Amino acid sequence: MENFIYSIPTTAYFGRGQITILGETIKTHGGSKVLLAYGGGSIKKNGIYAAILEQFGKAGLAHVELSGIKPNPRVESVEEGIDMYRTNGCDFILGVGGGSTLDACKAIAAGVKYDGPVSDLFVGETSGATISAAAPLATVLTMAGTGSEMDMGGVITVGADHKKKVIMHPLLNPKFSILDPEYTFTVPEYHSMAGVADVLCHLMEQYFTPDVAAKVQDRMNEGVMKAVLEDAPKILVNPKDYDARANIMWASSMALAGFQFLLGKPSPTFPLHGMGHELSSLYDMTHGVTLALLTPAWMRHTMSAAPEHLPLFARFARNVFDVREEVDAKAAEEGVRRLEEFYATIKMPANLRQAGVTEEDLETLAGKAVENGNLGILTSIGKNEALQIMRAAF
Ligand code: NZQ
Ligand code: ZN
Repeated sequence: MENFIYSIPTTAYFGRGQITILGETIKTHGGSKVLLAYGGGSIKKNGIYAAILEQFGKAGLAHVELSGIKPNPRVESVEEGIDMYRTNGCDFILGVGGGSTLDACKAIAAGVKYDGPVSDLFVGETSGATISAAAPLATVLTMAGTGSEMDMGGVITVGADHKKKVIMHPLLNPKFSILDPEYTFTVPEYHSMAGVADVLCHLMEQYFTPDVAAKVQDRMNEGVMKAVLEDAPKILVNPKDYDARANIMWASSMALAGFQFLLGKPSPTFPLHGMGHELSSLYDMTHGVTLALLTPAWMRHTMSAAPEHLPLFARFARNVFDVREEVDAKAAEEGVRRLEEFYATIKMPANLRQAGVTEEDLETLAGKAVENGNLGILTSIGKNEALQIMRAAF
């Protein structure tokens, strides 16, 4: 196992009614005038917005509002937020929503402290600019999935080709996040299940790495995956199942908090995310759905291109899906089959074609997925391999 640093700097206030800590906790972190950011308005329909304003009122906090942040958030929303924060003399940012709003807030937090275009700060930019300061940020999570509420990263869409860029720095970890499972009762089924697929993929991207020495991380990871598989279908039956919503929400937060299931392992490349982001760029497809579409094909590709990793896939099948099969190759394939079955249960589209992808686009998608270098950690995924995976997923 490699050396690692373990740090989860975000305080989680988890459970019913935790919103009551909001005002005073913002003040503890030096906030007096808050930039309140949210998406397309779901928070006004389900009462979360009113609850927040009530807490602001009690604590005597002033605020301004940035609304209309869209799924797969665009850099223009971030720029609007930076401008609003500065013009109004804000000193704190509160993101209320799912990953899209939270990610936009992280970019705003970095952008207000940087004297130049915020896009300079995205990972891999030639500007070479680094994040050295960020405005304090907190979140009220309204939909489980991305883990943005407990991690240091964000994903922002830029340019005419809708490229998804990452912003990442420990300073972007929220100071605190309010995680009330009841706030997710109103998330539509499609987005609830896309969130589940996202959580599961974050766990798998950290699980399928060459280093098998990190047993504590892997056994914990398997446990979280099992909980997700068990409780997601309960939400389909009853969207107000508090405990199921609670387990999925906490799984979302745990999956990426401090990248804890990767500790001691080689650096990740998150190949499924690398390919999935291109589907979002070209088709504005929901993030979690892109991952469910690609994962089984990626697994089969890896198992066949690098059979030395079959024991890892077999272990996944046995420990996560309780597959009882002694031959590794058979167990591994059964694991993929059960995963496909699960995606069908949570109503993910069966293949790229069904999700609206056109065959002629596959080559472009594969090329763009690797334009910043090969993906993959168990095998190297260049354009040819990405294309093979996408064809298999088609
Ligand atoms: O905009 P509103 O009106 O709020 O509606 C949203 C949106 O339409 C709705 N929603 C959220 N909470 C709701 C609700 N509707 C009713 N009741 C509620 N309580 O759900 C829709 C989707 O919201 P969005 O924030 O886009 O979803 P998600 O949380 O899946 O975020 C996706 C974004 O996060 C990025 C993705 O790339 C994508 O851009 N990711 C961020 C990561 C991170 N920061 O670490 C990691 C992930 O891998 C991912 O890449
Ligand atoms: Zn994701």
